[in-house]
Amino acid sequence: MTNTKNLYTNIRAHVNSHYPLLYLVTFEEHHADDLIRKLAKEDNQKIFEWNLARGVVNFEHKQRQTHEYQDLANTLENWLDDELTNHFLIIKDAHLAMRENPLVVARLKALAQKILHDSETKATVIFVSSQACIPPELEKFITLFDLPLPDQTRISAVIKQFVDAQGDTIAPKVLDDLTMAFRGLSEHEITQLLTRGYQEDSKLDSNDVELVLQEKEQIIKKSGILDMISTVEQFDNVGGLTNLKAWLKQKAHILHNLNEALAFGVEAPKGVMIVGMPGCGKSLTAKATASLFKLPLLRLDVGSLMGKYVGESESNMRRALQLAEAVSPCVLWVDELEKAFVGIGSGGAGSEVATRLFGYFLTWMQDKTGAVFVLATANDISSLPPELLRKGRFDEIFYVDFPTRDERENIFKIHLQKRNQNAVIDIKKLTEKTDGFSGADIEAVVKEAIEIAFVNNRTALTTESLIDVIGSTHPLKEIMKHKIKEYEDKFKDLKIKSAS
Ligand SMILES: Nc1ncnc2c1ncn2[C@@H]1O[C@H](COP(=O)(O)OP(=O)(O)OP(=O)(O)O)[C@@H](O)[C@H]1O
Ligand SMILES: [Mg+2]
Repeated sequence: MTNTKNLYTNIRAHVNSHYPLLYLVTFEEHHADDLIRKLAKEDNQKIFEWNLARGVVNFEHKQRQTHEYQDLANTLENWLDDELTNHFLIIKDAHLAMRENPLVVARLKALAQKILHDSETKATVIFVSSQACIPPELEKFITLFDLPLPDQTRISAVIKQFVDAQGDTIAPKVLDDLTMAFRGLSEHEITQLLTRGYQEDSKLDSNDVELVLQEKEQIIKKSGILDMISTVEQFDNVGGLTNLKAWLKQKAHILHNLNEALAFGVEAPKGVMIVGMPGCGKSLTAKATASLFKLPLLRLDVGSLMGKYVGESESNMRRALQLAEAVSPCVLWVDELEKAFVGIGSGGAGSEVATRLFGYFLTWMQDKTGAVFVLATANDISSLPPELLRKGRFDEIFYVDFPTRDERENIFKIHLQKRNQNAVIDIKKLTEKTDGFSGADIEAVVKEAIEIAFVNNRTALTTESLIDVIGSTHPLKEIMKHKIKEYEDKFKDLKIKSAS
């Protein structure tokens, strides 16, 4: 994570080297203001500010500077005519102001060009916005910066400040717990929650920690890019896949004794990728892993990260990973990973975004220090870039194949038991007749047979009735024959460890 000091130095360097347009992404405008104020003071810069609500305002007290509201297009026109000798031109709510506004975009481009090519002009345009959203026409002029969320020291200071202001005190344990719980939230969100918690019973205690966790779930839901999955599967409900399960149990042991493990020289688990045949338990294992690890499960829908503006997708990805870190320790499940990064390196229009997103994800995987265990699942890994498959990103990659005879036996048992079926069934016989069935196919057979038994006057389930259903079932392997063959060949080529 970028720390504030590096960020400042970095922005400073860009200003000094006359980068025309800087874009600060932050949920907290006053932080951007503090930073801009500090930059301007060092160099005696004059500050002009425009914001969507009021037009041209005074940077310090935010009072309107013109009699009537001036829209951004007009403001830019004035700036283009002005003699800019040592100026910061601040544009707030930038993502909203630029959206679907060709005149604004064109004038910004003209302004960037003026700054770049007119030696008399000295100015930096600084966009401030909660979302990165850059029209493609401006992309090459803009440098993007993310203002970090408050770290633990800062959070703790905010809480103490708040408590002081109430003329109250806070128990150290509550302070610690609240500080942990507030990770991933902006200062504004933290203060809001403190106020709410305080209003309820005029004190801050462990009930408020609960409130924060609920609120976080809300924030995660609202983000639209992460899902908190609550239907978690029992680990024992995963049939077969003994290698994978043993591996996961080993990681669970490490995670549950993390401090000791680290002291002993064990590395913190980073994550695992599970690839392979459809319906064979990849998603199921993801859910079961969360319950084995006793951690919350967050699902990242990479498809929903894709935005139509430059920087939007990356900004979403950053936000998603920030949120995951905020909720950590947790399992971050990236489902259907291959869909996210299709077309990388293909040179197509979406490919550049995908490549950048992917690069960002890789760097994060490499550097992440937080306790986020990444579990990625994919069917078709041939579209995944080889860098992702390299060791060091994931601790291990497993290949899930169609279940063997023994595994099918196990899976039948699990699904019969799950549905409280204790009639005597010759499961061995069933496994003989289900070569090439996936776990999902087996589950479907059990469901169907039970339904038929119920409709037929609730007779008991029998081996024969199950075999009848098997006979009329077309397993996925048969339906997707060609695709499956293609997968098989690829997996063989890549020599990935078998999950079974
Ligand atoms: N090994 C298994 N043990 C028990 N049940 C299984 C197993 N494999 C699949 N199933 C059953 O089939 C359902 C679908 O499996 P799952 O969603 O995990 O498949 P998947 O590998 O993620 O497939 P896809 O590639 O289509 O996403 C599971 O919810 C579970 O009920
Ligand atoms: Mg799946």
